[in-house]
Amino acid sequence: MKFFIDTANLKDIKDANDLGILDGVTTNPSLMAKEGITGVANIIAHYIKICELVDGDVSAEVISTDFEGMIAEGEKLAALHPQIVVKIPMIKDGIKAIKYFSNKGIRTNCTLIFSAGQALLAAKAGATYVSPFIGRLDDISTDGLALIEEIRLIYDNYGYETQILAASVRHVMHILNCAKIGADVITGPLSAIEGLMKHPLTDSGLATFLADYQKGNN
Ligand code: E4P
Repeated sequence: MKFFIDTANLKDIKDANDLGILDGVTTNPSLMAKEGITGVANIIAHYIKICELVDGDVSAEVISTDFEGMIAEGEKLAALHPQIVVKIPMIKDGIKAIKYFSNKGIRTNCTLIFSAGQALLAAKAGATYVSPFIGRLDDISTDGLALIEEIRLIYDNYGYETQILAASVRHVMHILNCAKIGADVITGPLSAIEGLMKHPLTDSGLATFLADYQKGNN
């Protein structure tokens, strides 16, 4: 399973990358705004910084919602760096744009996926990734992980190569359950990724080992 970090924060990206387990980065306009990155030139410069920081796919989201706009924006984004994946919302013109980019060999991430039907359509159009938002589904008392299971089944039935990028991941259990189901990728905050390494028995066990070493070597 690939690990992406879902942030535009360069320090968090660097911290995750330094662990040696990072496969890519996802961003969105809200995450950019959270870091105070505004204006096209700054946003573009930020994408390039992220690409230079990590060795993996970096999702860059279009703002346009019409076909022509998405094509113009997506082509500019894709030309910025070979690691850029154009992130396109699940709307009618978005599907057309994904098909267009797929024909041109430009990689896409279809975002804001909340149903298996949307994921099926994105795969038909040739999306490289689909991003089902599991945390946001959980927030409205709908089982986000059940959606990952449904999409996995459908893609496996037909051998779709579109990768399931479980997004809106909030915590360790999301990551573990995505791994059990067979999501291709998870994207979440640094806290969720780092949470995987934490266990109180590891901490207490290490403290005991170090204390016993000190006793024997004093
Ligand atoms: C996906 O690519 C989105 O950036 C993201 O995972 C949304 O997560 P959120 O629901 O925590 O905002």
